Amino acid sequence: MPQRRSTIALVLATGILLAYVAGCGADRPTPPPGLDKVQLAGWRAYVDLNCAACHGEDRRGQRSGPALTGLAEHWSAEQLVSYLTDPDAMIRTSPRLARVAGQYSIRMPASSGKSPGYGDPERVEKLGALAEYLLVDPR
Ligand code: HEC
Repeated sequence: MPQRRSTIALVLATGILLAYVAGCGADRPTPPPGLDKVQLAGWRAYVDLNCAACHGEDRRGQRSGPALTGLAEHWSAEQLVSYLTDPDAMIRTSPRLARVAGQYSIRMPASSGKSPGYGDPERVEKLGALAEYLLVDPR
């Protein structure tokens, strides 16, 4: 049976290669310059978790979400991680956030372990890196 096994291996390898090439399409976003290692991991989480769908690729906001700039004025990294885990709980304790939330018909989704892309064990580490990225303003 060795022949059949190598055929299977070849088919698998071709599939993986094709998936890889497709994943490197021209519209894949490139990271902004000047980020350190942790911030870069955070940027990757921002892309992977689709935050840009509501906040924009450049984080300058759009109809579905506010600009994510100047956050260091209001947040520490730990607070951001709690917020991302349970936005509604944070909104209840912050009049400023409640005001921001009132301007949007859509809600900021909670990044609980059940949401797609959040279920992995490194979730908190990933959210921590994401927070570090958010605290640096885009240039
Ligand atoms: C479905 C749209 C949507 C998605 C997806 C989304 N957000 Fe939001 N986000 C909002 C809205 C709307 C608000 C305004 C506050 C609220 O409603 O909770 C908000 C608020 C925020 C705030 C607070 C801003 C402030 O003024 O302090 C942060 C930080 C934030 N989002 C980060 C993220 C990150 C990081 C992701 C990806 C993991 C993300 N958001 C995904 C819609 C979204």
